[in-house]
Amino acid sequence: MAVDILLGLQWGDEGKGKIVDVFTQKYNIIARFQGGPNAGHTLEFDGQKHVLHTIPSGIFHENSLNIIGNGVVIDPIIFKREIEKILPSAPDVFSRMRISRKAHLILPTHRALDAASEQAKGKKKIGSTLKGIGPTYMDKTGRNGLRVGDTELPDFQENYENLKNKHLELLSHFELDFDWQSTEQDWFAAIEFMKQIPFIDSEVVLNEALRKGKDILAEGAQGSLLDIDFGTYPFVTSSNTTAAGACTGLGIAPNKIRDVFGIFKAYCTRVGSGPFPTELFDENGATLAKKGNEFGSTTGRPRRCGWIDLPALRYAIAINGVTQLIMMKADVLSGFEEIKACTAYEYRGEIIESLPYRLDPEFVKPIYKSLPGWSQDVTKITTPAEFPDNLRAYINFLELELGVPISVVSLGPDRNQTIYL
Ligand code: GDP
Ligand code: IMO
Ligand code: MG
Repeated sequence: MAVDILLGLQWGDEGKGKIVDVFTQKYNIIARFQGGPNAGHTLEFDGQKHVLHTIPSGIFHENSLNIIGNGVVIDPIIFKREIEKILPSAPDVFSRMRISRKAHLILPTHRALDAASEQAKGKKKIGSTLKGIGPTYMDKTGRNGLRVGDTELPDFQENYENLKNKHLELLSHFELDFDWQSTEQDWFAAIEFMKQIPFIDSEVVLNEALRKGKDILAEGAQGSLLDIDFGTYPFVTSSNTTAAGACTGLGIAPNKIRDVFGIFKAYCTRVGSGPFPTELFDENGATLAKKGNEFGSTTGRPRRCGWIDLPALRYAIAINGVTQLIMMKADVLSGFEEIKACTAYEYRGEIIESLPYRLDPEFVKPIYKSLPGWSQDVTKITTPAEFPDNLRAYINFLELELGVPISVVSLGPDRNQTIYL
């Protein structure tokens, strides 16, 4: 009957994939609304780990339909590889999925343009995943893009050639080691492969489903601080990762949205460049990275780690209209004698509790509150009653600071390590 949204409140990798998988049994449809193969969403169950990039995280449940919305950008090559990888665990993946005709295609030359853009930025590079995300969204807003629906039309090849040639002209100004010719064959083969999945007008299908009383979970990618408008620009991705992005990325009206689940780590991480006020460069940062196994799910790059940042979370909660919070990786904090939470910033000599225009270290210094940690291993806990007192106190403190209830706490990567409060 309604649409709920699940999205990240930090710089991505909060654990969206795990929770979408856990929540899927309550929904008829899981729909991705933005981003593309820059995302890496990890799910673990039955001792197996799966990493999804374009496929929605409800795919391992028999009774749910998984829709790739119009706001998503698709690299057919990566998508094909992804499907082939999960086929043994989800043999009916083709019938469980639908793709919006209005989703844009990432061309091989988009990936090369991404690399060229980063090369040109030099030291100021974004630290992009180099999947062609930025150039593809640029072609979308520049009204040059190719969409999934175009592959069904007779002039597809011609339109492809035109766009490719435009890209090659731009690329001729760079020295890049990029063999687009051999990739091109794979790309067209992958599009044929992709056609095994029905292409649909997903906004029509989703609205029809709502009329029929179905429940939809919109799955976000990246995180609110990577949003193109509200993130730490220019160190962001090229889509709206926030709640409004679910409306434009799926064709769902704002008044159809019920709950907005905001998901965050009990600490904070970031991968790629850009400001990160609570980043730790000491032993604590190294411990978080090691215990949290903080390596990018898409690129394998080490993630930068730091304490939780409450001004940033408050900002993300407001922008998204978060109704329930989900705290991930609380198990990683076990063993810290002291846990710190940034409650405010010192910003150009003033104390502020909001997020300023610039978050760079020359402007912003975090002000911390110290909380007592806990030593117990919490990964086998099955009820909130078993929480160590100081974990309970940390949860109470965060709820008070953030003004939104925490309804789920995650204590490990597995489906089962999920506690409802
Ligand atoms: P996503 O992009 O938001 O889906 O998150 P990622 O999958 O990129 O990163 C989250 C990582 O943390 C994955 O390796 C998950 O398996 C893992 N994870 C998720 N929840 C927990 C948790 O509660 N505890 C621990 N230790 N790991 C978790
Ligand atoms: P999930 O969905 C974490 C980061 C990149 C880079 C910036 C721009 O798994 O949470 P892009 O490839 O979009 O041009 O990169 O955004 N980034 C992510 N960081 N999780 C993600 O996705 C990310 N997707 C992009 O590291 O800093
Ligand atoms: Mg990820």
